[in-house]
Amino acid sequence: MKKVAFLTSGGDCQALNATMRGVAKTLYANGDYEIYGILDGYKGLIYGNIRKMESSDFAGILTTGGTILGSSRQPFKHMRKPDENGLDKVEAMKKNYKDWGLDCLVILGGNGTQKTANLLREEGLNVVGLPKTIDNDIWGTDMTFGFQSAVDIATDCIDKIHTTAYSHGRVFIVEVMGHKVGWLTLHAGIAGGADVILIPEIPYEIDRVVDAVQQREKKGKRFSILAVAEGAISKDDAALPKKEYKRKLKNNPYPSVSYEIGAQIAERTGQEIRITVPGHAQRGGSPCPYDRVLSTRLGAAAAGLIIQEDYGKMVAVQNNDITSVPLQEVAGQLKMVDPESSIVREIRAMGISFGD
Ligand code: F6P
Repeated sequence: MKKVAFLTSGGDCQALNATMRGVAKTLYANGDYEIYGILDGYKGLIYGNIRKMESSDFAGILTTGGTILGSSRQPFKHMRKPDENGLDKVEAMKKNYKDWGLDCLVILGGNGTQKTANLLREEGLNVVGLPKTIDNDIWGTDMTFGFQSAVDIATDCIDKIHTTAYSHGRVFIVEVMGHKVGWLTLHAGIAGGADVILIPEIPYEIDRVVDAVQQREKKGKRFSILAVAEGAISKDDAALPKKEYKRKLKNNPYPSVSYEIGAQIAERTGQEIRITVPGHAQRGGSPCPYDRVLSTRLGAAAAGLIIQEDYGKMVAVQNNDITSVPLQEVAGQLKMVDPESSIVREIRAMGISFGD
């Protein structure tokens, strides 16, 4: 009998439960496995919070958002630092793993989570990773689970803004999550028919953004919609040394980049601007059918690695196929939107502005 423990870490997303279900069902169907759940991410592994799970725990959770195990943020950069009571977190995780008699940890998480998973691998633990995040920024996989569900929600938000923007003849900014990358904004912006799409990978010039809005006005369009990534950055700010940019953000009177852009457009055009921030709703609710299929497949593939005792890998999607990549290749790399990629070129060709 083998003992396998799940752990969900970092910001949650829609298909975490569906993924665990995929792993668990495959393991139960193919051998003698005992499954455990570590509570609240790495916090539970550090401080020893675990519970035994039964097959009934995985019933009816394909459609449930969030994570039945709870999650927390334990930044990778603090993992090697002792906690406030002087506890060595890495040693504590290794000790609990050993004391619990585990054969493998199944770690569902984003970039930081996979970095810590790789650290645990280096420390000799058996680890299998699963790529979770609405940001779709994990290196080594074309797609992460949670992303398509978040695209649906952000798109629905832009769709709804269209009708009110038309009625009032206003300029609307919809601020989309995505951390330091623009995948979610790019896809929701395209799907929602935004007129301007601003993403971190393509720093904008406010004059070009204003041009795009004014050109629409000249053409007699009643409204404009801008999909702006929470990490969007102007060319001027992108040119600042990191420290200076951080100082600017600290003293910035605006709650986020969208409010700064909104104020600049209002000042230059005199148009009425409104900002909508769907925020954490983008991570909430039930996974979309695409994510249910993807997470079930990734879960089954992760179970396959466990059955073969092929550890130290993250399951991934490449060219529409499920595969796996070594954790050391994933750790520390970010998958960003390529400004020269065909998707960006196609959208530019349609006359959508990236503000550059
Ligand atoms: O990584 C997922 C994400 O939702 C990002 O898009 C966003 O920047 C961040 O998490 C928000 O984090 P928190 O839930 O800690 O506020």
